[in-house]
Amino acid sequence: MRRTLIAGNWKMHGQMNSIRELMSGISEQLQSDWRCEVLVCPPAVYISTVKQLIGDKTVSLGAQNVSEQVQGAFTGEVSADMLTDIGCQYVLVGHSERRSLYGESDELVADKFAAALKAGLKPVLCIGETLEQRENGTTMNVVKQQIDAVINLLGIDGLAKGVIAYEPVWAIGTGVTASPEQAQEVHAAIREHLKQSCTSAAQNTQILYGGSMKAANAEQLLAQPDIDGGLIGGASLKADEFIAICKVAG
Ligand code: 13P
Repeated sequence: MRRTLIAGNWKMHGQMNSIRELMSGISEQLQSDWRCEVLVCPPAVYISTVKQLIGDKTVSLGAQNVSEQVQGAFTGEVSADMLTDIGCQYVLVGHSERRSLYGESDELVADKFAAALKAGLKPVLCIGETLEQRENGTTMNVVKQQIDAVINLLGIDGLAKGVIAYEPVWAIGTGVTASPEQAQEVHAAIREHLKQSCTSAAQNTQILYGGSMKAANAEQLLAQPDIDGGLIGGASLKADEFIAICKVAG
């Protein structure tokens, strides 16, 4: 049985005051009987502050990016060990903004995935097609290639130690959500692809949906059999909205 994971990707938003406000808004409304796991991924410089604000509440903590390198002269980079050291359990790798704006290749993303696992972090592998790729009918080729870069490096067992987040690029920050049927179709195909390497990995790997998810559409998306949670951008910056999504997840 896969546990539902509701993750907030705060991207490069907020400052000390607004981040305190957001985190206390989330903490105050959390309920201990929810079955879903709640994860927040603040900007790197605020992770330690958020860790303190979480206190004894059950909220998991993640970063939005990590270096593929272990340590050394890599100005501006943050290592996986550093993230573990300050209390992260998760890290996003290969978010579409990193792939498109910072030129991260499938191979680099796979190296980051490996670095995260080595440091004891759970990587969330973000994958997804552009609008052009969808219209060309190459969605599944694209996402399979993004997944296979990790399988080629670490095997299916390595991949299965992380989480997959399917985020169609055309749905990110656009207000255009994939329909539940569109999302389910890709999620099921991803699971089928994993099954070709290992049935139990396919059954156990959490596959999140991301892209304009909000309280109003979460219920239908989360009701799909192969959607195991959400990776939420804009709507995770409003405590009430984020909490409403967590409530839907139960
Ligand atoms: P939005 O929810 O703002 O569309 O962003 C999704 C996303 O990129 C989460 O990683």
